Amino acid sequence: MPLSRRGSGTLTTPGGQHLAIHTRTQDDETLPHATKRTMADHLRRLETLFTLTPQRLRMITHAFRETLDLGLEKKEQVVPMIPTFVFGWPTGQEKGDYLAIDLGGTNLRVCLVHLQGQGKFEVTQSKYRLTEEQKQDEGQKLFDFCAESLKTFIDSNSGEDGILNIEPGQNLPLGFTFSYPCRQDSIDHGVLIRWTKGFGAPNTEGHNVAEMFQKSLDKFELPVTLTALINDTTGTLIASHYVHPDTRIACIFGTGCNAAYMEHVKDVPKIKDLGIDGDLDMAINCEWGAFDSFEHEHLPRTKYDIIIDESSNKPAEQAFEKLISGRYLGEIMRLVICELIDDGILFLGQNTYKVEVPNALDTALVSLMESDPTDELLMIIGIMSHFFALETTLAERQFLRAIARLIGRRAARLSACGIGAIVGKMGYLESGCNVGCDGSLYNKYPGFAGRIQEGLVDIYGEKARNIYTHHAEDGSGVGSAIIAAMTKARKDAGVYVHL
Ligand code: BGC
Repeated sequence: MPLSRRGSGTLTTPGGQHLAIHTRTQDDETLPHATKRTMADHLRRLETLFTLTPQRLRMITHAFRETLDLGLEKKEQVVPMIPTFVFGWPTGQEKGDYLAIDLGGTNLRVCLVHLQGQGKFEVTQSKYRLTEEQKQDEGQKLFDFCAESLKTFIDSNSGEDGILNIEPGQNLPLGFTFSYPCRQDSIDHGVLIRWTKGFGAPNTEGHNVAEMFQKSLDKFELPVTLTALINDTTGTLIASHYVHPDTRIACIFGTGCNAAYMEHVKDVPKIKDLGIDGDLDMAINCEWGAFDSFEHEHLPRTKYDIIIDESSNKPAEQAFEKLISGRYLGEIMRLVICELIDDGILFLGQNTYKVEVPNALDTALVSLMESDPTDELLMIIGIMSHFFALETTLAERQFLRAIARLIGRRAARLSACGIGAIVGKMGYLESGCNVGCDGSLYNKYPGFAGRIQEGLVDIYGEKARNIYTHHAEDGSGVGSAIIAAMTKARKDAGVYVHL
C-alpha cells in the first residue's frame, strides 16, 4: 500500500522488505491535527448545513400537514396514510393470553402476552437477531423463519411446567407485527407497498404478506389463528393508551421512523365506499418516513444525505426516514468524518481505513459520543481507538461531539415537524395530548425527547408545552396482543366482521 497523503501506509524497501509506517505519536498534544481555528471554521459550515431555523420548521410542518391530508383523501399517495381497521381505543379491560410475533428492523421477537385488564399485563418473550442475508433472501423463507421461531417458542413453553396451556383443538389468537408499509383491505390482510430499513427480500413487495405468513403457519401446523396484521406504530398507539388513556399519537424513532394516530372515519374520504359509520374512529398508520420522497421539495438534504440515499438499496424512497432514523445517523456522521479526513482536518498522519468502511459507525456510538460526560471525553477516546484504531486530540474529540450533536438535533427537530403536523390537524394544541414514543433513538439518544419539545415550541410557541412525549409501552408485543383481543371482541360481536 502506498503512503497515504497523511503519511501512513506500507513501503517496500529496495532490499524487498516491507515497512509499515505510522506517523502518529503517542502524545495527545503533539498529534498532528488541524488548528482549532480551522476546525471551528468547519464546524460553522456544518452548523449552517444541519441547523433548522424555527421558520424552516414551520414551513416543513405546513407541507407535512398538506401531505397527510392528501394521503387521507386519495389512494396511492407518497405518504399513504393507511387505514388499519383498528376501531377506536381499547377499554383497558381486554384480558386473556395472546401470541404476538414481531418482525422489526433488527430482530424477530416472539411474545406471549397475558393481558390482565386495568392496563396491566405480563410478557414472556424470545428474541432472535435477523442476519443481513435473511433480509435479502426469498420472502417466503423469511416468513418460514418467523413460523419456525414461533413453533420453537410454543414447544418450549408448553407442557406441564410451561406457561402455555393450549387445549387440543384450541387455537390461540396471534397478532403479527409487520413494521413495513402495507396497504390493508381488512385487519388480517396487507399488501407490502415497499420494503424499508434495508430489507429487500424478493417476491414480497406487491404480495399479501398475511397470506404468505399463513402459508408458513400451515406448514408448521401451529395451533394459532392469525387475527391481526399490525404496524409497530399502531401497536404502540394502542398499548400506550391501554396504560395512559390520554395518549393520542404514537411514534417510533428506531431503525426506521413512523407515526400512527386515531382519526375520525368521516375524515378519511378515501374509504367512504366501505360504508363504515363515519362517527367511528380508526387508527391510521401514516408511514411518514416516505414524506418528500421522489420530489425532494421540502426537506433540507445535505450532500451527505444524498450520498446515503443514492447508495441505499432504495434510492429516492423514505426521504424523511433517511434524515432521522437510527439506520442512517451513524452513516451521516461517518461521511462527514471521511470528508474531513480527505480535507486534511482530522486524524492527520494516521491510518484511517477502518472508519472509511461504509456503515462502520453505528448510530449507538454516535449517541455514546454525544453523551460522554467526562471533561477529557474519554468515551470518545475509547470508541475511536477501539473501533477505528484512531488516536484523537481533545480538540478533535470536542469537534466529533459537536458533529454528533448537530446530527441528533436535526433528527429530533424534523421529528417535531411530523408530530406538529398531526397535532395541528387534530386540534390537540389547545386540548393538549400525550405522544407515546418508542425506539432506540427516543430511548437512548441523549436529549432526543427534549429537542422534540424544543422543536414543537419553535413551531407553535409556548402552547406546544401542552404536548408531551413519553416512553411508550411495548407496542409490537403488548399492542399487538391488545389489538388481537379488540379484533376478536369486535368480530364476536358481529361488527364489520369482513374488515
Ligand atoms: C416502516 C414503518 C415502521 C417504521 C418504524 C419504517 O421503515 O416503513 O412501517 O413503522 O419503520 O419501525
